[in-house]
Amino acid sequence: MKATNEGVLLLNGKEVGFIEGQTVLEVAQVNGVHIPTLCHLKEMTPTGACRICCVEIKGMRTLAAACSTPATAGMEVFTETEKVHKARRLIVELLVSSGQHNCISCEANGNCRLQDLVYFYHIEKQAFASPEVPLYPTDADNPFIVRDFSKCILCGRCVQACNEMVVNRAITIGYRGAKSKVVTGGDGSYMGSDCVFCGQCVEVCPVGALVENKGRGTGRNWETKKVRTTCPYCGVGCQQLLHVKGGKIVKVTAVQDAQPNKGRLCIKGRFAYDFIYSKERLTTPLIREKDQFREASWDEALDLVASKFKEIIGSDGPDAVAGVSCARSTNEDSYNMQKLFRAVFKTNNIDHCART
Ligand code: SF4
Ligand code: FES
Repeated sequence: MKATNEGVLLLNGKEVGFIEGQTVLEVAQVNGVHIPTLCHLKEMTPTGACRICCVEIKGMRTLAAACSTPATAGMEVFTETEKVHKARRLIVELLVSSGQHNCISCEANGNCRLQDLVYFYHIEKQAFASPEVPLYPTDADNPFIVRDFSKCILCGRCVQACNEMVVNRAITIGYRGAKSKVVTGGDGSYMGSDCVFCGQCVEVCPVGALVENKGRGTGRNWETKKVRTTCPYCGVGCQQLLHVKGGKIVKVTAVQDAQPNKGRLCIKGRFAYDFIYSKERLTTPLIREKDQFREASWDEALDLVASKFKEIIGSDGPDAVAGVSCARSTNEDSYNMQKLFRAVFKTNNIDHCART
């Protein structure tokens, strides 16, 4: 079927339309043809680092990376040939041989693209001897992110997410050959680097090389219920998924493809959910009497607030009162707050504490 007048190519023998600028991978995805990816990060510059997305294109001497090959008119693409599967299997075997991927204890067990590919290709043992690679100690020197480079497949997604998606530019790929690894400036700890701990690197890591520190050992991916919600911090309204086990949040991730954050979260949205379980959290209204607070019912507290508003407006007019709506309120609550001040109290003294 010709989707646009931009161009037509043959995908596994079937005519499909494409829009100029689309890659072979994007054309395949639009047409429901699965091509595995590891390094590919949607809407970011393709790096072609892992080659797992290789496909056969008629007339090309070698297999091409679908994620970085532009679709062109008349192209004949094959995604499932024997040559393609042999190459993909070899890539997976090499990746498995190049690190220490202990699935049993890995935090990413059940949520790992490498594990999925190993399963798909029935790879039951390590095909190649491990190269002489340094043993990397697990780096958990900060409260947010744990790094285990013995599981890193050097796909570069974390680097791209840091540099291109959230533009913090805190990490890069350092060293050469078998010693290559993801490093901060000067290969120091995250704590001493430019990292702002947004955790975007963790979000995009396709294996268990980067994981949330707090969530470790608290719930496997298949054990948690994913609850979509709006981030309770500033007014941007980022969409997030709470991973909940036994009524407790074990980690927070971003909703992919949802506005306004499109898969991104900041440090607060991703990591700062402990306040929910704080023992210091106020759960009962408190009324101040002289220098003391005493617990009150909601009815009593609300009646007191209403009577004070009436009293002040009665004696000094509506502009004697002002309201500041909380950034954690929903849009609907903030709307009602301004209605209360403007329409009921008759004052425009109403604002919001975070208008970002
Ligand atoms: Fe890829 Fe994860 Fe390694 Fe970064 S840490 S290069 S995202 S495997
Ligand atoms: Fe295409 Fe990695 S997904 S090269």
